[in-house]
This record gives sequence, C-alpha cells and structure tokens, in this order.
Amino acid sequence: MSYLHSPYRLRNLKLKNRIVMSPMCVYSAEDDGLARDWHLVHYGSRAVGGVGLIIQEATAVEKRGRISNRDLGLWDDSHLEPLEKIVSNIHRAGAKVGIQLAHAGRKCGVPGERIVAPSAMKWSDEYPVPAELTIDEIQDIVKAFGKAARRAVIAGYNLIEIHAAHGYLIHQFLSPLSNTRKDEYGGTRENRVRFLQEVLTEVRRMVYEEMPIIIRVSASDYMAGGLDLEETIDIINLIRDKIDIVDVSSGGLLPVNIDTYPGYQVRFSEAIRQRCQIPTIAVGLITEPEQAEQIIGEGRADMVALGRELLRNPYWPIKSGEYLGDEVEWPTQYLRAKI
Ligand SMILES: Cc1cc2nc3c(=O)[nH]c(=O)nc-3n(C[C@H](O)[C@H](O)[C@H](O)COP(=O)(O)O)c2cc1C
Repeated sequence: MSYLHSPYRLRNLKLKNRIVMSPMCVYSAEDDGLARDWHLVHYGSRAVGGVGLIIQEATAVEKRGRISNRDLGLWDDSHLEPLEKIVSNIHRAGAKVGIQLAHAGRKCGVPGERIVAPSAMKWSDEYPVPAELTIDEIQDIVKAFGKAARRAVIAGYNLIEIHAAHGYLIHQFLSPLSNTRKDEYGGTRENRVRFLQEVLTEVRRMVYEEMPIIIRVSASDYMAGGLDLEETIDIINLIRDKIDIVDVSSGGLLPVNIDTYPGYQVRFSEAIRQRCQIPTIAVGLITEPEQAEQIIGEGRADMVALGRELLRNPYWPIKSGEYLGDEVEWPTQYLRAKI
C-alpha cells in the first residue's frame, strides 16, 4: 500500500487516505450565503472520486466577513439545511468533510458592508480603508466563530478548519504589516496571536471534545517586516495545544508576486512538521501521484491537499491509487468502467 493511500487518523476521525481537497471558493451562493445544488454536486463529485477529506471552501462567520456576495455563510441557522445535505451526500460516498470557517476582514468585497480590520490599513488600492475594530467588536467576532463552529457540528461536519491564511482577518492580526494596534491585540507576537488564540478557544468550547481542529496558515508574507517561516513556527508553538494539524499555505497579505513551482510550499510544511512536532498538510501545485507519494513518504507532510488539480479531475484519487499500484475502492455504480 502506498503512503498516499494509507489511512490516517485525526483524534477519532478515520480518513481512508491522505488526499485532501483544498478549500476553494466557487462563488456560487446568492447574496444570502446559502449553499445551492451546484455545491451539492461539486463536493459530491470529489467524494465519489475518492478524496479522503474534503475541506469545504471559506465559509463566512459574519455577513461582513465574506470575500464576495457569492460566498457561503454560516452566520445564521438558515444556512444549515443545504449544508446538512452536502455533508450527508459526501458521507454516503465514503469521504469525510471539514468546513473552513473564515472572516475576510479588510478583504471583504461586498458592496454596502462596513469593512473592518485590526488597523485602518487597506489591502490594495481597489479596496476601501477598513474601520479599526474595537475590543467589543473583536469579542463579537470571536463569538461568531464559535457559533458557526457549533452550527458546523449540527450540520455533521467532521472537523473545523480555521482560516488564518491568505490575508484574511486572522492573518491580518498575525502580521505586523497589517496590525499596528497599540492595545493587547497588537505589537508583540503574543499580542498579535491573541485573536487567533481566542478564536481557537471559543471554537473548541463550542464543538465536541474529539472534533479535530485544523488551522490554515500563510507561512510567509514574502515581504520584509511581514511573517516569515521563523515567525510562523513561533506562532504555531504558541497555539500548538489548541490544534490537531496545520494546513500550510503562504502569501495573500499584500499583493506580491510569488515564485511558484511544483510543490513550492512543501518546504514550509516540512519545517513546521519538524520544528513544531505537529502533523501538517502540504498544498500548492501538487499534481502528480509520485510527487504526492514522495512528500508523504519522505515525512515532509502527513497529508497532501490538491486544489486546481481536483477541479480538472475529480477522479484523481482513484487514478493515483491505480498508478501507485494500490487496490482502490471504486464506487459500485462505476464498477463496469474499471479496467
Ligand atoms: C478557485 C480557487 C478558490 C480558492 N479558495 C480558497 C478558499 O476558500 N480558502 C483557502 O484557504 N484557499 C483557497 N484557495 C487556495 C487553494 O485552497 C490552494 O491552496 C491553492 O489553489 C494552491 O493549491 P493548488 O496548486 O493545488 O491549486 C483557492 C484557490 C482557487 C484556485
């Protein structure tokens, strides 16, 4: 059995392989944040295709926390019903599913919303200057993460991923380039991590004890004065006891060009895994079965996440198993197509 197709366990959650569908917004909700048939089919297809763990796209914990007005939301009980269908559809196809809970902060592009951030610094010239969050507002957002997590439990998700990457609200607190606050949420590393710590504590309080919690981080801002690998390692060490696995991405805080090549973020995953002694997910231009197999086999990550490759080919997991010589289970409905 290949490393890629061997099972993995996160707390009590058993995953049939190490292949993760990376969270990807498909901008297919209406302004209400409700999931549609598109989402049901889209996620169901990747479950049928053999992915072990699907992480649903960034799902907003507040209306003003959306990236666009086509984002999914979980700020209200009305969002539950279609999400429950997505979850049970995925489970029927033999995969597990997590949800990425997110708040866009200053990257909110929804017309008419009051845009907020740790500091009144805009993300780019196309975006307005956000309002600096008050302490009370910060506390409200912490609670919004907790309430959304509670709803995720009700909907049947198997785990929660907290989006602390790509320049969204939590990342805005973490990076000195977007957080110039003078109070207990800015300045020292301990202060910049405080919001994330409070979110994680609240989410843990609102979910069941064995529910795994993942965070997605950006391991580098690719800019002087911003987060780099060393600081990211120090940050993870401060919250290590609150999370089960780190999903390691990079960039997104400011519009900069990133030098991308196959597996360009794997080195971050490897360093975090070794130096924080915590399991990791590697992501970013991982497209080939041998490449994915090598990343896990060499101990550079515990799982691999695929984004665009799974948009191109929902059956990648089945094909990669066959390629690596594994006996991979096919959906019974498709058995007559098995060569
Ligand atoms: C269409 C699209 C939407 C995305 N949406 C999200 C998202 O909701 N949350 C997130 O953390 N990353 C998001 N990403 C980043 C992907 O999860 C992934 O990290 C990135 O595409 C690199 O992996 P890949 O080379 O396998 O595509 C998105 C990427 C794409 C292409």
